[in-house]
Amino acid sequence: MTAEIISGTEIRKAILAEVKEEVDQMKEKHGKVPGLVTILVGSSPASISYVTLKVKTAISLGFHEIQDDQPEDISEEDLLGLIDKYNNDPDIHGILVQLPLPKHIDDKKVLVAIDPDKDVDAFHPVNVGRLMIGGDEAKFYPCTPAGIQEMIIRSGTETSGAEVVVVGRSNIVGKPIAMMMAQKGVGANSTVTIVHTRTKDLASHCKRADILIVAAGVPGLVKPEWIKPGSTVIDVGVNRIGMNEKTGKAILSGDVDFNAAKEIAGAITPVPGGVGPMTIAMLMKNTLKSAQYALK
Ligand code: GUN
Repeated sequence: MTAEIISGTEIRKAILAEVKEEVDQMKEKHGKVPGLVTILVGSSPASISYVTLKVKTAISLGFHEIQDDQPEDISEEDLLGLIDKYNNDPDIHGILVQLPLPKHIDDKKVLVAIDPDKDVDAFHPVNVGRLMIGGDEAKFYPCTPAGIQEMIIRSGTETSGAEVVVVGRSNIVGKPIAMMMAQKGVGANSTVTIVHTRTKDLASHCKRADILIVAAGVPGLVKPEWIKPGSTVIDVGVNRIGMNEKTGKAILSGDVDFNAAKEIAGAITPVPGGVGPMTIAMLMKNTLKSAQYALK
């Protein structure tokens, strides 16, 4: 049987419509809207394109949005000063500093300078700690793991007691999603295994996964025969495997052999159109949440 395709594009649309409705209500009730500042240092084409999409999405939802572009040679001190200004601006609920930063700036220093209660990326060590504690402590989850959990929930996959195997141990995806799935709560309560480059028998772990989350960045790493029949497969990999000569666009592939895997899995995310589109939707949701906390 062919798997259900979990479309990030469709789920994003639904989430953004939900956020828009809540923004409209907030405006009506409190005369306020969520405020997001995106700080872009320099002019890397990839960063410009990410930030442009974030800004456009925020504006389409009725957010107060400030796009604060800074020159490549801004000093670390000036950037920290800018963050301090937004930390103290009551109309700003989310501060996003687009990464990577130029080499002369210590990105760790910058990330810890952001007020944890405005850190909608959830990269600040305080938010990493809050995620670990779980429950009400966790104000924001990092956007990609939050998107993954939302897709699992909306696909109707049972997570309680499920065997979850996470392939990859990055700070941005593997480690946080593993902890989120192990916590008490909706879309969680799972039994989690993290596997990585030093794991002895990757195949045997993947084969027992009711939910397989792959964030390794290695195209085709997970073989179809490693997939448990009927399982839910979330492919976080976005690998450029070539170029379409006609369109000039990169050809993207995940970490899982999608065409073969969809004949075995119960539900699976495609690449592109899977986890990728979810990240911005969760950033918007985090900014809304931050504004709602500020009104409490
Ligand atoms: N650069 C690439 N992805 C991200 C992200 O999710 N947040 C930030 N701040 N920078 C990025």
